[in-house]
This record gives sequence, structure tokens and C-alpha cells, in this order.
Amino acid sequence: MSNTNPLLDVSGLTKHFPIKGGFPIRRTVGAVQAVDGLDFQVAEGESLGLVGESGCGKSTTGRLITRLLEPTGGKITYRGQDITHADRKGLAPIRSEIQMIFQDPYASLNPRQTVGKIISGPMEINGINPEGGREKRVRELLEIVGLNPEHYNRFPHEFSGGQRQRIGVARALALEPKLIVADEPVSALDVSIQAQVVNLLQKVQRELGIAFVFIAHDLAVVRHFSQRVAVMYLGKIVEIADRDDLYDNPRHPYTRALLSAVPEATVDAEPRERIRLVGDVPSPINPPSGCRFRTRCWKATEKCATEAPPLVQAEGNKPGHLTACHYPETADTVPAPRLSKDPEAAA
Ligand SMILES: Nc1ncnc2c1ncn2[C@@H]1O[C@H](COP(=O)(O)OP(=O)(O)O)[C@@H](O)[C@H]1O
Ligand code: SF4
Ligand SMILES: [Mg+2]
Repeated sequence: MSNTNPLLDVSGLTKHFPIKGGFPIRRTVGAVQAVDGLDFQVAEGESLGLVGESGCGKSTTGRLITRLLEPTGGKITYRGQDITHADRKGLAPIRSEIQMIFQDPYASLNPRQTVGKIISGPMEINGINPEGGREKRVRELLEIVGLNPEHYNRFPHEFSGGQRQRIGVARALALEPKLIVADEPVSALDVSIQAQVVNLLQKVQRELGIAFVFIAHDLAVVRHFSQRVAVMYLGKIVEIADRDDLYDNPRHPYTRALLSAVPEATVDAEPRERIRLVGDVPSPINPPSGCRFRTRCWKATEKCATEAPPLVQAEGNKPGHLTACHYPETADTVPAPRLSKDPEAAA
């Protein structure tokens, strides 16, 4: 990334959840290594996609950035200010600038509050008095997110899932944030309305110049939304690149496997080989030594078990395209466990 002064700068970010055990004295007997040394930046107005299977640490990362969780290690810099361990008072000036949108729109809205109250609540808490009053601002926000401003006095249960997520977006926008962390914002919605909500977020990102960290469990959703994409596996970033570099030239075996599951964008594209990942993601309590992906990698060697591959610009990568693998993929590497190149057989 060319921006020398990113909006958000994360380095070595780590979150280990202690596991308590023992009786009568409860002591720490281990740790869930949910996030283990992340480095990435987000420029102003940019959208970074964060992708990986369930359990790889995406939500924890989102909650660390928004400081809903206290980091175990590393550093978070927002607009040049170190907020890694900032307390309530320290966070107060920037609280409104970093907002979060959650996966389950219903669980994140208070069922006993009207939409108007839900959206104006954050303004009230932060003492924001927009010109023309809060109610007028709420109506404007409802309009921006594609809801009827007249529905100001309705309750969450009177809306559909997609509409509820729009309410969540309006609430996040109420404080005019500079950064929104959207944690799988469409995963809980019907496929038919996912695109509508993604389009809304895209409109918001472009027209209001808001930076996004967009979390998703597959590469299909972020493809149209994020200029840059980071792929996570077991608490680590295994590959990060501009969108086109990542989709056209995936170098990490895990990225390649994830991509093979994404439906082809064009009809006449050569059918991609399907790579079926075997087994589950190992436990983050006791992750594999060396490369954490090695227990599911078709190319793992002794070296992979002993040396953790650093996240670097592998030979053949464009600048800014980083890969953590001792043996990066190339266009003509044939993955061993592919099922078939024959589109009929692969269907
Ligand atoms: N509060 C917590 N206490 C202990 N373990 C947790 C906690 N939150 C998340 N984890 C564990 O951390 C790992 C990463 O979780 P999460 O960040 O939710 O992953 P993702 O969002 O990618 O599915 C999982 O193994 C999860 O069980
Ligand atoms: S470092 Fe080894 S185990 Fe890890 S992804 Fe690369 S080849 Fe596979
Ligand atoms: Mg999650």
C-alpha cells in the first residue's frame, strides 16, 4: 500500500484467551491463541476484506480493532494515536469514529426500542446535536440506507432481516465514522437479499469515504467489495494482496483452496480445479508447529513442521502482495487433491 500514513495500523496484534483450570486455586493452564501476530494497515476510505474459515480469529480481530477486547500483545495505531491499551477516557475522542456492524442484525438491536431511539441513541450518548435536531437526522439516515423515514416509530420485529441490517448500518452511520468493522454483515441473511445489503455498504463506503474492514468466511462476498483482501488461518494472516493479485495469482495453498470454492465469475472462464480441504481447522489451543496449515496442506514437508513461514513478498508477487508459505503456488502448480478439471465431473 502506498499510503505512508494509514488510518489504521496494526502490528503484531495478538489475543490469547487464558484457559483456567485447577482446584482449589484456579490458575491459567493454557491459552486459546485466537489471534497470533497480525500485521496490516487500512488506508482512509479503503476497504480491506478479512477472510477465513470459522474459528480462525476474524471476529476477535474485529473486536480488538474496535477495542471491545483488550489485546494480549502488539500495537494498534489509529490516526497516529496508539490506542492499544487506551482506557475509556483515552478512547472517548475516537469512540465515535470506529463503528461495528454485527452478523446478527436482530440480536444487536434492542427489541424494546423504536428504530428512532436505536439510531439516535449513539448520538445522545456522545452528545451529538445535529443541525435540525436528532429526529431529522435519523430520518435522513433511514433514507440513506433505503428505509422509509416514516417508519421512525416502528420496532425491530416489524422489519425483515435485510431491513434490520439496514437499521444496523444507519446506527453505525449516525456518528459519522471513519472506519466501520463489518463482521459477516450478510452471512445471516437470505442469499437473495445479501447482494442488496452489500450494495448498500458499497454505496456508503464510496459516497461517504468510510474505510471498512469487511469480515467474511468466503472469498465470494468480498470480491466485489474490498480493494485488498487478507486471508486468515488459525490466528494468522497467510496471504494479503490487492484483490486482483489475490484472485488472479493466489500463492498460498489455503488461498487457492478457498478460491476453488468460489463460483466462476464468467461463463467462458476455464473451469477452476476444485480443491477439497480435508479435516477441520485444528484447535487454536495447541496449533500445529511451524506452518499452521501443514496438517491440511498437500505439499507439507519436514521444513513446514519446524519453521513458521514468514509473511513476505514471495518471488513473483507484485509489491504489497505478501504470502506466508515455504513453497508458494504458481499458475501451473497442480494441487494434488483436485477432484477433476472436467466441469461435468466437478459439478
Ligand atoms: N471470549 C473467548 N474466550 C475463549 N475463546 C474464545 C473467545 N472468543 C473467541 N474464542 C476462540 O477464539 C477462536 C477464534 O474465534 P473467532 O475470532 O470468533 O473466529 P471467527 O470469527 O473467525 O469464526 C475460536 O477458537 C474461539 O473459540
Ligand atoms: S509452508 Fe508448507 S505446509 Fe504451509 S502452506 Fe506452504 S507448503 Fe503448505
Ligand atoms: Mg466470527
